[in-house]
Amino acid sequence: MAQQIGYSKKVMEHFMNPKNVGTMDDADGHGKVGNPICGDLMEIFIKVKDDKIEDIRFQTFGCGSAIATSSMVSEMAKGMRLDEAMKITRNDVADELDGLPPVKMHCSNLAADALHEAIKDFKRKKGEIVEEEEKPAGHTCEHNHNHCDTC
Ligand code: FES
Repeated sequence: MAQQIGYSKKVMEHFMNPKNVGTMDDADGHGKVGNPICGDLMEIFIKVKDDKIEDIRFQTFGCGSAIATSSMVSEMAKGMRLDEAMKITRNDVADELDGLPPVKMHCSNLAADALHEAIKDFKRKKGEIVEEEEKPAGHTCEHNHNHCDTC
């Protein structure tokens, strides 16, 4: 019998049997993000048809909550219009999983952020305008390169 560790049944289901795991050679969009809090990493690959996410795969190099949230976001986004999928927030993902322990809420950042990055990548490839990432307020990197954590 599994030890009670404070995770919902849905979190455990998606952790033990994650959906849409894998990569995609011919992805239309690819998003890769790291979690600055723990250093874990997630990648999402999407296939797009008629502005909808036709197929989706993910790889997560992270904790059980990251795997569960990745699996859940992939299920939520599949079949969704791109503009709708862009509105999925980390809280939406956590809510769909019937919550995460407060100390693990940061783990849901990866899933939503990687999905958004994959959609932006698709739009970039299509030549649609994607605004530059805003630099954090007060950031003073004089070189303005993407070579440090803050950049
Ligand atoms: Fe890194 Fe959960 S501890 S994503």
